[in-house]
Amino acid sequence: MKTEQSISVIREQVAQWHSAGESVGFVPTMGNLHAGHLALVQQARRFANRVVVSIFVNPLQFGLGEDLDNYPRTLQADIRQLESHGVDLLFAPTEDEIYPDGRDNVTAIDVPGLTSILEGAHRPGHFQGVATVVARLFNIVQPDVAVFGEKDFQQLAVIRRMVQEQGIPVEIYGAPTIREADGLAMSSRNGYLSPEERVLAPTLYQVLQFVSEGLHQGQGFAELESAAMSKLREAGFEPDYVSIRRAIDLAEPQAGESALIVLAAVYLGTTRLIDNLLINMV
Ligand code: PAF
Repeated sequence: MKTEQSISVIREQVAQWHSAGESVGFVPTMGNLHAGHLALVQQARRFANRVVVSIFVNPLQFGLGEDLDNYPRTLQADIRQLESHGVDLLFAPTEDEIYPDGRDNVTAIDVPGLTSILEGAHRPGHFQGVATVVARLFNIVQPDVAVFGEKDFQQLAVIRRMVQEQGIPVEIYGAPTIREADGLAMSSRNGYLSPEERVLAPTLYQVLQFVSEGLHQGQGFAELESAAMSKLREAGFEPDYVSIRRAIDLAEPQAGESALIVLAAVYLGTTRLIDNLLINMV
């Protein structure tokens, strides 16, 4: 696996593959890789002849007081994992390569409607930062397909909408959330949890399952959301939201909807965790 920092080298390599008739799959990441990321790589390998991964801790998607400076940077360990999973090319650019005029002079991308709800309401600017860097990475790598985790379901929805609206010729695939044996969704942020918090953390997934069961028993959306918030508080979390939405576009659901999703964001101590569960009502 080659590791490159330069946009021109990445473009040249991908162009060579394309002219040889090979398709290119892309997995953008911020590094600190775990089994969830490696599952995205495996998906990309299924869909394309060549796999490119990027590691770039994107400052634009971190708000004030968020963990940009402390975000774990583990490049050497990440390289070893990617090599053992058959990745062809790693793009690990500097900030100057991605934002040559500085992070304050960037043509930003907004996806109206989707970037300001749920996570967007609690982390203003976050999804503009994500959409902006992903559009830029797509322009650089020019992949045929790109794979994102369903763990960040709203991010996936933002990217799908952006690609559709802007006519970006990249096919987007969502990959199911990878969980620890006790149900906790894998995330780089799990590393911040104390041993006591780590024991408590899987309760988040149990509460999402409680909401799913309630929906199948015919309970109302608002009633279940509020019961879930209470359960989380009682367990020791500080929930930001528990919200039942229409899976297709994250709009408020109507009764009788067939594809729902429950999304939640909580604080456990100082660590913010998100998770979601797709619910098929048919
Ligand atoms: O999901 C992530 O790791 C990031 O939001 C992404 C998609 C790599 C953009 O920085």
